[in-house]
Amino acid sequence: MTIKKAVIPAAGLGTRFLPVTKSMPKEMLPIIDVPVIHYVVSEALASGIEDIIIITGRGKRAIEDYFDDAPELEMHLGRTGKDEYLRMVQEISAMADLHYIRQKEPLGLGHAVLQAEKHISGEPFAVLLGDDIIKNDTPCTRQLIDIHARTGCSVIAVEDVPPDMVSNYGIIDGLPVEPSLCRLADIVEKPSIEDAPSTMGAIGRYVFNPEIFDCLKQIPKGVGGELQLTDAIRDLKNSQDVYAYSFRGRRYDTGSALGYLEAIIDFGLEKDDLHDGLMDYLKKVVSR
Ligand code: UTP
Repeated sequence: MTIKKAVIPAAGLGTRFLPVTKSMPKEMLPIIDVPVIHYVVSEALASGIEDIIIITGRGKRAIEDYFDDAPELEMHLGRTGKDEYLRMVQEISAMADLHYIRQKEPLGLGHAVLQAEKHISGEPFAVLLGDDIIKNDTPCTRQLIDIHARTGCSVIAVEDVPPDMVSNYGIIDGLPVEPSLCRLADIVEKPSIEDAPSTMGAIGRYVFNPEIFDCLKQIPKGVGGELQLTDAIRDLKNSQDVYAYSFRGRRYDTGSALGYLEAIIDFGLEKDDLHDGLMDYLKKVVSR
């Protein structure tokens, strides 16, 4: 079955980016002039997704405004002949069929995904976290959709993470089935390095069969008192095969300050009007 629906959870509090996230969603932090969530929505669309559900919460209105029409702004840009900006603004509001579901309280990533159950209506679907940007010619979500098409199984994207970062991720134990693909034997949320079954961490991309919702409804609160998606995946693999895939691409974890800075620098270097000036500046910084 072709996967046409995706869920983008974006209702978290973004505490690592306080104080700015007090009044601004972290998913709206700009990578120079484009907010992070724009890249996430673009990846979903480039992967063949047609229907996107964004999970929002209190203080997240800026996300809805960003993807909405902006009649006054458009009129102003048209009147003042700023056609290039006008086209840019109109293209954003025409990007996709977006739906918003509110998570009344940030009770965890698993709880956020569960809010989309009614809209998903029994189909396989993708999940893209609203604060991970992944660059690759074949989008990461497309890579997962292709594996799902081949196997009929849920599949999560994983990456080898540095040992001191293991306790920030859902860490997997996998049985290799082919290059870059494992069958999930176990997954543990935020383990200590001593307890971690590997250093392969689940990053923010998944494709699920709809049975994940049954698991999400049955799991107790996990690490941090939150409903953890990881715990539901652990349950799911007891009743059907789940795969873990070492995706191709470069990931920026823009939910962390360092990942965010790396994204700004790399995206800046790709802009013709910024490349030389930024490069000169970086050389000066290195030689300080
Ligand atoms: P994170 O744990 O990275 O987001 O969740 P957070 O809780 O906002 O960030 P910190 O740790 O406090 O800085 C990963 C994704 O899941 C969403 C977040 O918005 C983010 O995109 N999320 C998390 C929800 O939608 N609801 C939740 O209850 C928790």
